[in-house]
Amino acid sequence: MKFSIASWAFFLFSLIIAADAVSLPVLPRAGKGKGKGEGDHNGDGEGGGTRPTLDPANWPNTTAALVGLHKNLCEIPSIAPNELAIGDWLATYLESRFFTVEKQEVAKNRNNIFAYMGSKNRTKTLVTSHIDVVPPYINYTYHSNGTITGRGTNDAKGCVAAQIKAVEGLLAEGLIGEGDVAMLFVVAEETDGAGMIKANSLGLTWESVIFGEPTELKLSLGHKGVLRFNIEAFGKAAHSGYPQLGINANEHLIEALHILSKMKLPGSDLLGNSTLNYGVVGGGTAPNIISSYANASVAIRLAADPLSVRTLVNETIKDLSITLTWFERFYGPQYLDYDVEGFETEAQAYGTDIPNLKGSHKRYLYGPGSIFTAHSNAEFVTVTDLVKSVEGYKALIMHTLS
Ligand SMILES: *[C@@H]1O[C@H](CO)[C@@H](O)[C@H](O)[C@H]1NC(C)=O
Ligand SMILES: *[C@@H]1O[C@H](CO)[C@@H](O)[C@H](O)[C@H]1NC(C)=O
Ligand SMILES: *[C@@H]1O[C@H](CO)[C@@H](O)[C@H](O)[C@H]1NC(C)=O
Ligand SMILES: *[C@@H]1O[C@H](CO)[C@@H](O)[C@H](O)[C@H]1NC(C)=O
Ligand SMILES: *[C@@H]1O[C@H](CO)[C@@H](O)[C@H](O)[C@H]1NC(C)=O
Ligand SMILES: *[C@@H]1O[C@H](CO)[C@@H](O)[C@H](O)[C@H]1NC(C)=O
Ligand SMILES: *[C@@H]1O[C@H](CO)[C@@H](O)[C@H](O)[C@H]1NC(C)=O
Repeated sequence: MKFSIASWAFFLFSLIIAADAVSLPVLPRAGKGKGKGEGDHNGDGEGGGTRPTLDPANWPNTTAALVGLHKNLCEIPSIAPNELAIGDWLATYLESRFFTVEKQEVAKNRNNIFAYMGSKNRTKTLVTSHIDVVPPYINYTYHSNGTITGRGTNDAKGCVAAQIKAVEGLLAEGLIGEGDVAMLFVVAEETDGAGMIKANSLGLTWESVIFGEPTELKLSLGHKGVLRFNIEAFGKAAHSGYPQLGINANEHLIEALHILSKMKLPGSDLLGNSTLNYGVVGGGTAPNIISSYANASVAIRLAADPLSVRTLVNETIKDLSITLTWFERFYGPQYLDYDVEGFETEAQAYGTDIPNLKGSHKRYLYGPGSIFTAHSNAEFVTVTDLVKSVEGYKALIMHTLS
């Protein structure tokens, strides 16, 4: 679906957005901040952002609008592959803010949402995050101490809301215009990355892409890669009273898992150690039967070159009584751009959609909330962090355009 607008509407849009912007915090000027401190966009500092009071009745309109957008997004369940409703809602919202909006079909009833200003879909910068979440749905709740709990509040609807408000804010301040920034909100980040992979067929390229995932307001130095494999052990069933008549597949599997988990894997200074997890293990049918089959699913979080780790694993298991099958899809460590002043930096151990978007663009990763609560029942974000992250995204966008 494509919703085009005439330029008068674009003008009107600037006016409407400007009306919402009266109380926007002050931002460093576009492109002129080179070599000058840009304030603190991290969790602890005061600079750059307003610190909202806890009582929503006293929030500036911009905070109320940000929290309102975030609430709307969080209240629509969007556990992959059920992202239709949130995509439709988001498209309607962005159209109401006079963006040009396109839905890119990834699969039946699964759409990426791509939005930009006016008619120029080719922009210098892209801001992007994902609209799917992990199960189960947890309802949205605002607590009087300024925290917001619920599924997606940090991973990644906090990023989505803050990115949109950053773009709206910069537009209202006249700091950006057509051709500067596009927004892309994808499905399937939490499963197989199909949304971001599909985005490659938009036929667009960017100088810089700003990815949104929870980083506790720190600018990411990079994140680990992922390598996955399954192992299987084949035995021979027998009565457990006569183990000599059988071959115990569970025993072979456990031995292999033990050896694999003790392996010394290569790491790097930036990302630390590579780590191995056998997250799913199964085998056997009953306590009184020697197990004839066992298997396990293993993931390695890579801080080093994938091929060297594959060779090492191959070498380690070659004399063991198991069969190993590598997953076809894997990616190595991602080294990101962080040449922006005013941010604390940190490396992450989790995976993102970043390797799924092809191209030679600069890559930034930043967002409110912590990965330590993402995917958990205690997932939350604070209003303070949401507000600060809008400032952070604005600074990143302006940096990429300078
Ligand atoms: C905030 O919004 C209210 C109602 O929507 C409006 O009356 C008020 O003028 C706005 N305040 C500012 C500072 O924009
Ligand atoms: C949210 O979930 C909690 C726990 O299940 C429940 O106590 C509460 O009433 C729910 N709130 C809303 C608004 O549905
Ligand atoms: C905020 O309040 C909620 C609900 O009472 C509580 O679970 C949470 O620990 C509090 N968080 C902070 C940072 O005080
Ligand atoms: C971008 O705009 C060009 C020219 O108007 C058009 O041909 C192309 O289909 C558009 N692509 C997307 C993804 O919007
Ligand atoms: C990496 O592993 C070594 C042991 O192999 C351990 O001593 C070290 O603390 C680990 N480093 C990190 C950052 O976890
Ligand atoms: C392990 O085997 C079971 C039973 O055949 C199967 O359902 C499961 O998908 C297998 N898991 C892996 C990781 O191979
Ligand atoms: C690991 O072993 C598999 C199967 O034996 C082989 O296809 C693959 O090329 C090996 N990979 C490396 C990096 O040695």
